Amino acid sequence: MMTQVLQCDDASIALAARLIREGQIVAFPTETVYGLGADARREAAVRAIFFAKERPADNPLISHVVDVGQVYELAREVPNDALRLMEAFWPGPLTLVLRHRAGALPDVTRASLNTCAVRMPSHPAAKALIAAAGCPVAAPSANRSGRPSPTLARHVLEDMQGRIPLILDGGACEIGLESTVVSALDGEGVVLLRPGGVTREMLEAALGKRIRVAEGVNKPLGPLDTALSPGMKHRHYAPKARVVVAEGWERVLELYKRELADGGVPVILTSRKEGTHKRVPLGDKPEQRLFQALREADEAGATLALFEAMPREGIGSAIMNRALRAAGFEVIGGKP
Ligand code: TXA
Ligand code: MG
Repeated sequence: MMTQVLQCDDASIALAARLIREGQIVAFPTETVYGLGADARREAAVRAIFFAKERPADNPLISHVVDVGQVYELAREVPNDALRLMEAFWPGPLTLVLRHRAGALPDVTRASLNTCAVRMPSHPAAKALIAAAGCPVAAPSANRSGRPSPTLARHVLEDMQGRIPLILDGGACEIGLESTVVSALDGEGVVLLRPGGVTREMLEAALGKRIRVAEGVNKPLGPLDTALSPGMKHRHYAPKARVVVAEGWERVLELYKRELADGGVPVILTSRKEGTHKRVPLGDKPEQRLFQALREADEAGATLALFEAMPREGIGSAIMNRALRAAGFEVIGGKP
């Protein structure tokens, strides 16, 4: 299959919507990362997403919507807390896990769970695409499973060339990390399953109360744990280089020197500007550049990519969550 890359405009969005209506899959930009979209209600189309991504079947997909009416088609109930969060953060980088309305989505989309994940993205091209497709659009991040999520159309092409017919190119994703995933089931309270652009602090401010953070957000879950968010147990974001999170700049430099002495090719993923080491710059907004930097570490032939631990506050907790997964939870000096 030939993979076409088209700039986002009315014509390319109309073409992408037609492909989705025909049961095909297309990649499109969102404000978080690029998604690989298909009609969430069509079993064969959603299966094609899992196939193209080589994604394990037990990891459910998010259905993307453009209006709240679609949420009620997919969810059996929308608790008050969920409504409040939708009002505060939609459209935007927040995904809600709700009870699934029987018959709305096929098993494959939900990985057979009795819940469903829904998100209303704010990216204009994503909104236009979902509206024109006329259906909820199931879309995981558009990377091959286990690779860093794509924040540029070029990253999608690297992973998906020959596997999908069309990539809509909308430039760099504004946020650069996947959406915050929150479960809001009646009787179970609000639980943060995956930190993201909407921070825990923001969620708690909107709800006027503390929320629970799922086990597994900041540490690996054992094989016997039944993960609340199934995606958290799979290996993630890993480039070919070994990734290590280190506590403190001094330790980062020490590990760098040691790798060099051992004949390896270390790089440091960092926003810092000082020093003469080989670095992949993260810039002022490290969340926006992290996934791209992981890909660049590979392009530089790195054997070791070092990341300095940061405080887990605000967006920092989402960045650390992704960095720890990329590192397979290998943390030097301090605990994950
Ligand atoms: O920002 C994003 O969320 C991007 C863009 C494309 O919207 N999408 C994305 O999808 O990151 P994906 O498939 O890479 O991650 C979806 C996450 C996974 O961790 C998955 O396990 C979780 O959402 N999830 C989906 N449905 C769920 C459910 N019913 N219950 C619990 N977790 C669920
Ligand atoms: Mg993903």
